[in-house]
This record gives sequence, structure tokens and C-alpha cells, in this order.
Amino acid sequence: MRILFISLVLAATVFGYEDEPLAYGNFPDGFVWGVATSAYQIEGGWDEGGKGLSIWDVFTTDWDSNGKVACDSYHKYKEDVQLIVNLNVTHYRFSIAWTRIFPDGVGETVNEEGILYYNNLIDELKRNNIEPVVTLYHWDLPHALEEQGGWLNADIAVWFEEYARACFVNFGDRVKFWITLNEPYVVAHLGYGIGIFAPGISGSGTSEYIAAHNLLRAHAKAYRLYEREFKNQQGGIIGITLDAGWPIPEDDSQPNIDAAERNIQFDLGWFANPIFSENGDYPQIMKEKIAEKSQLQGYEKSRLPEFTQQEIIELKGSSDFFGHNFYRGFMVADFQSDIGSISQDADKDTFVYADPTWYTTGSSWLNVTPFAMRSILNWIKTTYNNPKIYITENGVSDKAGNLDDFGRVYWYKHYINNVLKATMDGADVKGYFAWSLMDNFEWNAGYTEKFGLHSVNFTDPALPRRPKKSTELFSAIVRSNGFIE
Ligand code: NOJ
Repeated sequence: MRILFISLVLAATVFGYEDEPLAYGNFPDGFVWGVATSAYQIEGGWDEGGKGLSIWDVFTTDWDSNGKVACDSYHKYKEDVQLIVNLNVTHYRFSIAWTRIFPDGVGETVNEEGILYYNNLIDELKRNNIEPVVTLYHWDLPHALEEQGGWLNADIAVWFEEYARACFVNFGDRVKFWITLNEPYVVAHLGYGIGIFAPGISGSGTSEYIAAHNLLRAHAKAYRLYEREFKNQQGGIIGITLDAGWPIPEDDSQPNIDAAERNIQFDLGWFANPIFSENGDYPQIMKEKIAEKSQLQGYEKSRLPEFTQQEIIELKGSSDFFGHNFYRGFMVADFQSDIGSISQDADKDTFVYADPTWYTTGSSWLNVTPFAMRSILNWIKTTYNNPKIYITENGVSDKAGNLDDFGRVYWYKHYINNVLKATMDGADVKGYFAWSLMDNFEWNAGYTEKFGLHSVNFTDPALPRRPKKSTELFSAIVRSNGFIE
């Protein structure tokens, strides 16, 4: 306890923060505490057990680092389950690699070795009283499907539905908490818009909207399948995990206030509106802006696709909860983009940046803004009629990966405290998952940005895991289900 106290004080000093006053009290009964990972970032075993190639296997071919071995959780999953147990959490969010179930993305039969791996993991979790929370898609699309256009091919809604079916059939007796897609914004924008993530497609100003459209269609199909054929018998919940930072207007002028709202509509409303709002469609502001710009740019019709009536019906209400990965706030100003610049970023007509007084982390995009957690939870509450919310990811990176991770101690204390404040404001937050259980492959940053509550020594072939200081603080909050004065 004493060490914990000293580390908290140190954390505040390291970050140089005036601590915001903490709220004291408990999270609601039954609040879910968990940690999260994803398949490509931790499993390794890239060519084992009959697994097919994913777009991340291919995208990283010439890179210095990749997910071929990662944390080797493919072999070390039992050890990982013990790390989870030691944290006192009750839930573990991990993802299934589509290529372990269907190596080519589709097929008459499943790959039994892939099924066996996840059966073993799920059984090990259940034996240790940890509830599995399964993400069906955390970015590792089968390469064979990318060769047919990937998320740009409208057929992917059915490919995904069939993959989801295989997962419900094989794991649904034990998995009661499903997440269809992780961060479709990132898949569409980074993967098919600016091309810095697999499959690396960029520049058209249209493809990311098509990818997003098909992601939404695929999500709805998987949701409706579960609802129709599995829910009654298996009794689980299923929803989607979105992401967006919190936009803070540069000042209180109307153009900047409007710009902040527009920014969140383009980032979060893009996916949330069709699912959680009454009209089951893209936000009005997106429809207007993109139509207007497309016309000026000489397109025959808007670059934003339209849903059919049937799709709107399927999408509306297609999530049992609002999953949100939350990391950061940022400043926003109104900014009229050049009409020649054809992209989702330009369509927004906003300029975003970090306040220079905010403290930095191991990731260039990530600043320490705990208050923004409370703001976004309240925005979701009021915008989408008070849905059940799970924070399905929150966490911070550093470069050093030291066990004395005082910055992370500070982060969890203040971000989680702002979740508590949001529940006191009336947001219906049902759970919180820390990102991540352990240091892992941070996509295009490789192993240089470490988000783990546990360190992994990647230079030692045995890949030993060790708890960082932040595990103590996090477990203490979990054990008391809140903050005690
Ligand atoms: C969100 C993603 O879901 C996860 O894969 C990633 O590692 C974290 N953010 C941190 O960037």
C-alpha cells in the first residue's frame, strides 16, 4: 500500500500535473472489469495450426518487425490466463483470427486446429472463472478475401456473416459476450483511406466510405444472425466497438463549436448513427457536406454511399451495447479544406491538434487528457438515448517499458476516475477494459510503443512476462470496485 502511495505521488510529479480532484465512490453493482488484447498483436504462430495469411502478415512482409511471433500467446496462453487471474479482473477481451477458422476466409468446413486453439483458450479461461469477451474482427482480414477486394467488395457482408456463424456454433455455448468489429473507423480510414494500415489503400476519397459502408452492413448481418438463430438458446449479448477521441473547440466561437461537433459526427457518428440513432443512417451533416463537396469536385453523385431501406432496418438498433475504445481528447478549429483535396479528413473541414500543455506518451497521437473520458461518455449518453456503454479499451503507451511505469499508474487512476464521474453524471457505463494485458505488436509502430500492464521481454526467446507497477493500482481499483477515500 505504501509503495502504491509513493508511486501515485511520483506519477503525478513525473507528469507534472495538478491532480484534478478525484471522485470517491463505487461503480454500480455488476460493473465488469477486464483487460484486452487482439489476435495479431499477441498470438504469433502465424503459419501454425493451418492458419491462412492475413492482410497484416502480408502488409508487414518487408518490415523489421511483425506479428509472426509477437508474444507467442499461441503457445503461452495458459501463462497469460494466470496474468489475468492475478489482476483480479473477471473478463478477458481477445479476438479470433478469422484465418485460423477459415484460412481462405470462406469455406465449407472450418479448420479444426484453429477451433481447437480457441476452445483451449476459452476452457482455460472458464476454469479460472474468467469470462471470455470475443471480438470477431480485430483487423486481420484473410488475405484471400483482400484479393477479392476485401472490405470494398459488397459480398464481404455475407463472408463475415458465415465466419460469425462458425464462431457462434463452435464457441457460443461458452462465449456470452460478442463484439462484431473493432474500430471500423480505423479499418476504413487508416486501411482504405490514408493507407497507413493494412491493406494500405489510399487516396481515392471514396474507398474509405465504401469500406465503412460494407463494415456496417457486415456488422448488421452478424448481429441479426445471432439474434435470429443463437440468442434465445445461447443467451449472450452482441454489439460493436467504436472509437473516437473527444473534440474540444479551440474557443467558444460558434464556428469552432460547430467544427468540434462536426468532427465527432464524422469520426464516431459515421458508425454510431446508423446503429444507435432513430433514423438508422449516416449523420445529416456528413450527408450534406460530402454531397456538396462531391458535386463541386465533379462527381456525378455523392462519394458517400446510401443504404437501402432494408439495410437501414437491419442496422437500426443492431447492438446490445455501445462499445467504445477511448484514449484522448484533442483541440478542434473550423478549417475550410481545399476542394481539390479529396479525402474523409478534408470533408470534415476541421483542423485538429494537441494542446501543447498536455503531457505526451509513447505514441505521437496520444496525450494525457483524462477529463475527456467523462465528456465523451456524457456525449454518447445524450446523443444516443442513454445506451449501455462498455469502455472496451483504454490505456497508455510508453517507449521505455519500465516496470516502474508511473505514467501508466497516473493514467489509470485518472481515466478510471473520470469513468466513475460519468456514472455519477448518469451515463450507463457497464464495464471497463484496460488496454492491454501486456506489451505487444502495436501495428505500424511495431514493438516500440508499449501499452502493457505486463512487460514482455522481446529480446529473450522465452518472452517472459512481468507485472508492472500499474498492475497494483489497477487491481486495487478493481478489488474495491471504485475509489475509497
Ligand atoms: C486501439 C486498437 O484496437 C488496438 O489494437 C491498439 O493497440 C490500441 N488502440 C492502441 O493504439
